[in-house]
Amino acid sequence: MNIPSSDLVKAAEAAVEAVSRPLELAVVLPTYNERKNVATMVARLDEALKGIAWEAIFVDDNSPDGTSDEARQLSQVDPRVRCIQRIGRRGLASAAIEGMCSTAAPIVAVMDADHQHDPALLPKMLAAVETGEYDLAYASRFAEGASTEAWGRPDRVKASGLANRIANKVTGVELTDPMSGFFMLRTETLRADAHRLSGVGFKILLDILATVDRPLKVKEFPLNFAARAEGESKLDQTVVFEFLVGLYDKWLGRIIPTRFALFGTVGAMGVVVQLAALWALLHLAFGERFVYGNWSESATFNVANTLAAVIAMTFNFALNNELTYSDKRLRGFGPLMRGWAQFGVTCSLGLLTNVGSAAVLKTIGIHDFVAVVTGIVLGSVWNFALSSKFVWGK
Ligand code: GDD
Ligand code: MN
Repeated sequence: MNIPSSDLVKAAEAAVEAVSRPLELAVVLPTYNERKNVATMVARLDEALKGIAWEAIFVDDNSPDGTSDEARQLSQVDPRVRCIQRIGRRGLASAAIEGMCSTAAPIVAVMDADHQHDPALLPKMLAAVETGEYDLAYASRFAEGASTEAWGRPDRVKASGLANRIANKVTGVELTDPMSGFFMLRTETLRADAHRLSGVGFKILLDILATVDRPLKVKEFPLNFAARAEGESKLDQTVVFEFLVGLYDKWLGRIIPTRFALFGTVGAMGVVVQLAALWALLHLAFGERFVYGNWSESATFNVANTLAAVIAMTFNFALNNELTYSDKRLRGFGPLMRGWAQFGVTCSLGLLTNVGSAAVLKTIGIHDFVAVVTGIVLGSVWNFALSSKFVWGK
């Protein structure tokens, strides 16, 4: 690699700067397809954080656009830049947690890498947290003096209003923007409770506030939420869904694990799909009298029901891939076909477990209803365990 000499001089200066004082601040930047924003982001941090010993940690989920390569390239000439490249995983919240846990700096910030968050706020936030006066500083899009005009998303401003009220109820802390992705706190505060953070599609700041037992003293800074510099947002379709999942995870996640609850809900929807498909096949496809050609009525029913079961299984596979295992989503024709086939085998075994265990319970004299429900629960647990390991495993 050919590095221009001016860059080497800058690198030497940065290196001297980096080792001459203990690290004060780490800035964690979760990234997915932000290649074009990485270098400009580092330049802005350099500008904003003059006189502060800082490091930037890009936590990249193996972006296809080569964001990790870009971050590593910068890192070669500027030791303050670090890159964590995660393979086979997706998720803003979990990326932020991993980044925050990976630093030796006493204070850590999280911010978006797409220039929507203004790094000029970082020194002010640092001053608030460093002195110990506040436990947490964060930038609010809805505080007095903030603006979201450049955002150009009035729909999301409105949606945020309702979600914010719910969020404030959950955490017991009144914030104007609990969904903010731009905040700073002492690393030890985070580390003490990091193992209890869910990392499941919950807004990370909200998760921290809801998880840390003692009330945190929070300092709010008004933010001018800018338009994204390059690329596009990744949170659009799933914001509301992830918010609900996050709420569930906080309230009941410890009793029935969130992923299992999602899997079960999808399964229940599958039952409805199978019934609807069976009805449609019998009434619409196989004709009025439920008899196809010269097949008997029961043969027609069995064929239709088998088709309906395959349709429901496919529906469940697609929805689980989209929602339940969104962080391990299978993509591309090959992986999808393989996953679908594996899911089919898993479900067939699950059905045997379901029907088999109910039969056993019935023979030992357990009430029909209890036997059936137990069978359904056991079959679902079996399906879930096998799917997690074999279909969406690795
Ligand atoms: N590692 C990783 N993995 N990073 C991700 C992922 C992911 O799955 N998804 C998004 N990011 C990164 C983006 O690359 C960007 O740097 C930052 O997280 C924010 O993502 P955007 O896709 O730009 O989010 P947004 O602008 O629509 O959402 C904003 O508002 C949310 C609340 O409404 C952000 O400020 C969020 O932080 C905030 O929670
Ligand atoms: Mn953004």
